[in-house]
Amino acid sequence: MKHLIAPSVLSADFANLQRDIEMINRSEADWFHIDIMDGVFVPNISFGFPVLKAIHKHATKPLDVHLMIVDPDRYLHDFKSAGAENITVHIEACTHLHRTLSAIRDLGCRAGVAVNPHTSVSQLEDVIEDLDIVCLMSVNPGFGGQKYIERTYKKIKDLRAMAAGRNENLLIEIDGGVSNENALKLIEAGADVLVAGNAVFSAADPVLEIASLKGIR
Ligand code: DX5
Ligand code: ZN
Repeated sequence: MKHLIAPSVLSADFANLQRDIEMINRSEADWFHIDIMDGVFVPNISFGFPVLKAIHKHATKPLDVHLMIVDPDRYLHDFKSAGAENITVHIEACTHLHRTLSAIRDLGCRAGVAVNPHTSVSQLEDVIEDLDIVCLMSVNPGFGGQKYIERTYKKIKDLRAMAAGRNENLLIEIDGGVSNENALKLIEAGADVLVAGNAVFSAADPVLEIASLKGIR
């Protein structure tokens, strides 16, 4: 499968959100990556339902919603209603992860789990069949524009090995510090989806930057 590119809207210009969404629409991007932060699970607050609904109104590609919030179960239905196609929760924020993943699939969404840099992928051993997406955080969540953590390559390989024969359709997504510098190595290690915020939105030509990430292999 050709890898997917998911530009992170967190790095967009919020005063020109429609313009930036339309840029992603006409680019080679596959998904919109949407970061929801509550100021509790992560030390930052991003945006909530009104902005998500506004994005959904203009976006012509699936919304990949990354919940960096405590107690995500309370809001799964609301995120689905606001337009989420993929819902990713943090393993560190879920006491009953299996139940949460089932609830996401019952809504008709792809179920994702994100793991922080300090969390071992071995913790996914007993839910690997219940997952559509694993989002490996390659920075500590909370902010765009941080430095990629090198250890992530090893986690991709370990996760791919764990999923072999048990979940061949699993999508491994990499979130944080992705750029043209590391994209090829990430794909070669087994990544399927590359999230890119700063790399796309700080580029002189974001559409070209997306095309370059998409064409990397
Ligand atoms: C970090 C977010 C990321 C972020 C990625 O907490 O989950 O999605 O927007 O941004 P870059 O690509 O700039 O590291
Ligand atoms: Zn994210």
